[in-house]
Amino acid sequence: MQIIETVVALKRALENQTNIALVPTMGNLHAGHLHLVTLAKQEASCVVVSIFVNPLQFGANEDLASYPRSLDADYEKLSNHGVDIVFAPSVVEIYPDFDGINLNQTISITVPPIANELCGATRPGHFSGVATVVAKLFNIVMPQLAVFGKKDFQQLHIIRELVQQINIPIRIIAGDTVRDGNGLAMSSRNGFLSAEQKKNAAQLQQELLTIKEKIQYGNTDFSALTQSAIENLQGKSWLVDYISVRNAHTLAPASAQDAALVVLAAAKLGNTRLIDNVEFLR
Ligand code: PAJ
Repeated sequence: MQIIETVVALKRALENQTNIALVPTMGNLHAGHLHLVTLAKQEASCVVVSIFVNPLQFGANEDLASYPRSLDADYEKLSNHGVDIVFAPSVVEIYPDFDGINLNQTISITVPPIANELCGATRPGHFSGVATVVAKLFNIVMPQLAVFGKKDFQQLHIIRELVQQINIPIRIIAGDTVRDGNGLAMSSRNGFLSAEQKKNAAQLQQELLTIKEKIQYGNTDFSALTQSAIENLQGKSWLVDYISVRNAHTLAPASAQDAALVVLAAAKLGNTRLIDNVEFLR
């Protein structure tokens, strides 16, 4: 496995490759990321994993500085999973105008209005930051396909829109959410949870599964269903950002006619913000 830190060296290493898969990550890798690597390996002859904590997608009061970084452990996991190349650039390599304080990023990708809802409502600029770095990584690696996780359902939706709307010739593959034994979706931020919080964290998925069940039994009062889930979690000392039932294809608020649905949620346990979703057919 090659570890490459510059765009020039990466371009050189990929010169003769014709079937490249890219798995973009921010590192601190867990079984969810490695599942995406496995999918990439099934589809491509050269798998590139990028590790880059993208400052452009963090708000001023978010956890950019404390975001968990564990490059050596990440390299070992990726090497054991048969990855060909890890691309781990510095901030200046990706944003050459970075002066150590400001990014001075003058061009960024404009994202559709859905990027201001759900996670975007409390994280203004987040999805524009994601779309911009993903577009840059696509242009640097020029893969035939790229793999993203359904755990970040809204992110996946926006990346699909990005690729479709500006005709980027890259196939997007979605990987299912990998969970721990209790049902908690794997996340780089789970390491911030205490043992007690980790046990309780599975309550989030439980509430989403309850909503799914009730909808599948014929209940279409989506706002009452989400309100009751929010109250249950608040009663267990969660700080709920949102729980919302949406059309799984458009992410528009669900209507009683929709067949493909997704219930999405973001909530804080202590200082740790967790997201999850459950996708289903009625
Ligand atoms: P990161 O949070 O590191 O996630 C990298 C990829 O792993 C994303 O596609 C995410 O959806 C997927 N992933 C995370 N947890 C998962 C789980 N439990 N099961 C399956 N897949 C999971 O998402 C980002 O980084 C960044 O926003 C990025 C796309 C790299 C742009 O900076």
